[in-house]
Amino acid sequence: MTCLCVLFAVSSLFLLPTASATSLSLRTEYQGSSFFDAWIFYSGTDTNTTGNVYFETRETAMSSELTYVSDGKAVIKVDNSTSGAGNSTYGRSSVKLYSEETVSQGSLVVLDATHVPYGCSVWPAFWLQGSNWPVDGEIDIFENVNLAQYNRYALHTTDGCKHPDNSSSTSIETGTLISTDCYNATNGNQGCVVEDPSTTSYGDDFYENGGGVFAMLWNDDGIKMWFFNRSSIPSDIEDSPDPDNWTTPTANWPNSSCDVSQFFGAQTITLHSKDITLCGNYAGSASVYEETCSGTCTDLIQEPSNYDTAYFEINYVRVFSR
Ligand SMILES: *[C@@H]1O[C@H](CO)[C@@H](O)[C@H](O)[C@H]1NC(C)=O
Ligand SMILES: *[C@@H]1O[C@H](CO)[C@@H](O)[C@H](O)[C@H]1NC(C)=O
Ligand SMILES: *[C@@H]1O[C@H](CO)[C@@H](O)[C@H](O)[C@H]1NC(C)=O
Ligand SMILES: *[C@@H]1O[C@H](CO)[C@@H](O)[C@H](O)[C@H]1NC(C)=O
Ligand SMILES: *[C@@H]1O[C@H](CO)[C@@H](O)[C@H](O)[C@H]1NC(C)=O
Ligand SMILES: *[C@@H]1O[C@H](CO)[C@@H](O)[C@H](O)[C@H]1NC(C)=O
Ligand SMILES: *[C@@H]1O[C@H](CO)[C@@H](O)[C@H](O)[C@H]1NC(C)=O
Ligand SMILES: *[C@@H]1O[C@H](CO)[C@@H](O)[C@H](O)[C@H]1NC(C)=O
Repeated sequence: MTCLCVLFAVSSLFLLPTASATSLSLRTEYQGSSFFDAWIFYSGTDTNTTGNVYFETRETAMSSELTYVSDGKAVIKVDNSTSGAGNSTYGRSSVKLYSEETVSQGSLVVLDATHVPYGCSVWPAFWLQGSNWPVDGEIDIFENVNLAQYNRYALHTTDGCKHPDNSSSTSIETGTLISTDCYNATNGNQGCVVEDPSTTSYGDDFYENGGGVFAMLWNDDGIKMWFFNRSSIPSDIEDSPDPDNWTTPTANWPNSSCDVSQFFGAQTITLHSKDITLCGNYAGSASVYEETCSGTCTDLIQEPSNYDTAYFEINYVRVFSR
């Protein structure tokens, strides 16, 4: 007996230094002149969320400078030079990118940006989706609409995946809990949403503060997301990230209330900014638009100068895996 106990204690000690289950190494890097190489440009109208937008091919996006690299930064924008005056069904040009690779459980996805799209009628997102929605889940890392002040983090799933309620949420994340049920049929596909507590996570404040980093860790313990403003980015994040050593996540969906291996399949990274007609499919039409903007959303689409701030400026996107 004694002998067994000693053996057990010794082997545990021996195992401890190598027990870093979250050890992550760089798998894919989207950066600089090669940023756009490994994305598929979805081309066509916005059939799923009825945006007043036309997503351009790689060739058109590049030639009309909706996508380009400048000073090492990748820019992804909505057309802000073409007038749609007099055309009530005008579809403003934009870009929607799907990663060629898929991301699996045991991954960390990092976006470092210095500008994110915003403005009345603008709906940007940096998110992941499985091949069969909602069976394979959806992970929204960066998303909001119009002149919202705070970024929103969300999951969308089939029935049975939840964010813990308020009694436990304060200890696991710094964000504000908006809704707990990730099931796509609850509240018109609202998702389980956590809002960032800082205005530097979205819109003009994000830009004025030098931007920052969004990170999403999906492992056996669940899904965690962080926003780090420019002055608080962990020093290890670019090359050898150790999320165990970071601050409390901004949003956290522990596996105990959402079995992540059941609700999430291989994910495609999706990156876009678009115009929204209904303001919208996002969370219930005009009421959302009127929270931060006035007039009628569709009236804005025709005027290009409404889209001067509707662009991403990205230092890099990196995917690390176990
Ligand atoms: C609509 O969603 C389906 C399923 O996620 C996807 O295959 C399709 O590409 C989407 N269409 C657009 C325009 O995004
Ligand atoms: C109005 O915009 C739509 C969508 O962009 C386009 O197909 C149509 O040709 C435009 N109509 C006119 C009269 O320019
Ligand atoms: C608790 O969470 C619910 C969403 O489930 C939210 O509506 C409510 O505002 C939260 N209350 C507090 C005090 O955070
Ligand atoms: C939820 O997903 C199911 C299955 O795909 C679909 O039939 C239903 O329309 C979705 N509901 C919403 C509100 O998206
Ligand atoms: C940046 O983040 C740090 C750490 O959360 C915080 O103390 C600081 O106030 C933030 N700066 C701004 C401008 O929000
Ligand atoms: C943990 O983070 C702190 C603060 O960023 C850093 O000083 C320290 O070296 C890190 N430790 C490890 C083991 O990475
Ligand atoms: C995640 O949750 C499921 C369902 O409760 C459980 O079977 C599984 O063991 C959990 N995984 C981990 C790593 O805790
Ligand atoms: C489009 O927006 C960019 C970035 O704000 C700006 O530099 C440019 O002048 C705008 N283009 C036009 C035609 O106004």
